[in-house]
Amino acid sequence: MSITVLGIESSCDDTSAAVIRDGVMLSNVIASQAVHEAFGGVVPELASRAHQQNIIPVVSEAIRRAGIDKTSIDALAFTRGPGLMGSLLVGTSFAKGFASALDIPLIDVNHLQAHVMAHFIQVEGEENRQPAFPFICLLVSGGNSQIIRVDSYNHMEVLGQTIDDAAGEAFDKCAKVMGLGYPGGPVVDRLAKEGNPQAFHLSKPHIPGYDYSFSGLKTSFLYLLRDELKKNPEFIEQRKNDLCASLQTTIVEILMDKLRSVVKDTGIREVAVAGGVSANSAVRAAFQDHAARYGWNIYLPRFSFTTDNAAMVAITGYYKYQDKDFCSIDLPPFARVAL
Ligand code: KG4
Repeated sequence: MSITVLGIESSCDDTSAAVIRDGVMLSNVIASQAVHEAFGGVVPELASRAHQQNIIPVVSEAIRRAGIDKTSIDALAFTRGPGLMGSLLVGTSFAKGFASALDIPLIDVNHLQAHVMAHFIQVEGEENRQPAFPFICLLVSGGNSQIIRVDSYNHMEVLGQTIDDAAGEAFDKCAKVMGLGYPGGPVVDRLAKEGNPQAFHLSKPHIPGYDYSFSGLKTSFLYLLRDELKKNPEFIEQRKNDLCASLQTTIVEILMDKLRSVVKDTGIREVAVAGGVSANSAVRAAFQDHAARYGWNIYLPRFSFTTDNAAMVAITGYYKYQDKDFCSIDLPPFARVAL
């Protein structure tokens, strides 16, 4: 029997809806919110208002592009959390109303699990190499930096995570002090291509186990700018590319050092990466390098599945549907929820 799932994602500042049929993506529509650029970060109140404006057109467009009628949707999967409460409420409330109107089951999805599950989305005409269980997934985004052991679609264990900032935050906050706009991660990536990654030495954390920390790096970067700007007010402008290259290299080294330890200790060489920062070219190059050097089987997501999207929510819903893992209509969203 064919199964069609509509996915809805509204955890942060992207309103997205997607249709997945039997594991194959039929549509994935994302409306991003430019309104936050002027503020140098996501403004929660503005995000929820924008979701409210976007949600109906985005869902209609996802159904239209999928070439289906809404009566052929078998289940509705929505992001329950973690995320911004005002944003989550828009997607959750819409999902409940729509599922009730269509009289179909509702499936709650953990946003972090969905990022990992993006590796199982099949796209017509594209090769889909899926990681074999168990595999290790580095989840790196604006809100999370975690190393996850994935034993099955519905069994994942966090082995390590950041104790302060996420990797994406480190990119964005350092970019902000250089006046590079928001989100700064992609700009740092672009400028770093023209810079020397060894130009500046930035501090790396020394914390035990598999956990991450990025706040020390951020402070070290800030102090470097403060000290150099005293000597030369044009420092940032003149050394922007070298600063970006050094910052990016340090972040990637921090990420890969811990990941290498996990792979060594667990003996699992199936290694995937997910989340917004997995779009970063140095992260991708480091994965390729580790594949060649240590024999890892690596899985890099398609670029459109790195940042927040509903296709990853729909694919998670598709697998939960097969387990009849449905939720009740009175389930509230969660701003903070573990994997
Ligand atoms: O997964 P995501 O869309 O959602 C959040 O958790 O917010 O990740 C967004 C993060 C931002 O911090 C952004 O700067 C970062 O991913 N990012 C990048 C790149 N593309 C997006 N960071 C570094 N290099 C990139 N190319």
